[in-house]
Amino acid sequence: MIRKCLFPAAGYGTRFLPATKSMPKEVLPILNKPLIQYGVEEAVSADIHQIGIVTGRGKRAVEDHFDINYELEHQISGSAKESYLVDIRSLLDQCTFSYTRQIEMKGLGHAILTGETLIGPEPFAVVLADDLCVNSDGDSVLTQMKKVYEKYRCSVVAIEEVPKDETYKYGVIEASQLEDNVFVINDMVEKPAPEDAPSNLAIIGRYILTPDIFDIIRETPPGKGGELQITDALKIQAQRNMVLALKFEGQRFDCGSIDGFVEATNFFYNKLKASE
Ligand code: G1P
Repeated sequence: MIRKCLFPAAGYGTRFLPATKSMPKEVLPILNKPLIQYGVEEAVSADIHQIGIVTGRGKRAVEDHFDINYELEHQISGSAKESYLVDIRSLLDQCTFSYTRQIEMKGLGHAILTGETLIGPEPFAVVLADDLCVNSDGDSVLTQMKKVYEKYRCSVVAIEEVPKDETYKYGVIEASQLEDNVFVINDMVEKPAPEDAPSNLAIIGRYILTPDIFDIIRETPPGKGGELQITDALKIQAQRNMVLALKFEGQRFDCGSIDGFVEATNFFYNKLKASE
């Protein structure tokens, strides 16, 4: 059973400077909701309620968001504005939030390893909050991945097809089809140039990892950019055991980029207007 979801949230968010100079990128809002709240709601939709967040310096706003602000609540108590807090209150009721700090930014693999203290020896999900995923007509992406995990009991990554000239932004896999939308990973490369990419199947920010990944990360040498890459650790896991990739149903917005952020904003704005 997957009970825990880890959110690596220590990064500097340099692509959103100057907004992220004093504000964590995870609390940038799409409409009126911070990015990381969408991620936590997705975890809850997959029946995962223990939230672990790997933070860093300057991330206090993330912790404050998942807490009660008594002064504010007192101020708006009894007014119509209380309705704005219903969703976040419900998350606070349903989830526990634990934090640990990544002292140095040494890559996503290192961030996940830093989260080991929050996870322990059990399988867990990882959500990169700047990849915002929606599937309005069915199961959330994490729920789809959990179903694959429950059937095969191994690590699962979410993938989507990207234009060949964008492979340099992603972990890219080489894989054989196992069943509809599920692939066995044979090889994976972190951020390859288009000419070196083994396919156009890119990993997006959703993972289910078995706990042996922690020991594997410990023995993985630094990779692309001198950082400890989760892609490299997963490649070792794929060679020793099995790692699956799920071509998920739904849509993913790269909210770590201005274009994706605006697309997500428009998507949720149109959805809101259609519901009014
Ligand atoms: C990370 C991973 C990469 C993955 C991507 C998904 O990169 O290293 O393999 O494809 O997330 O968003 P980042 O975007 O943090 O540079």
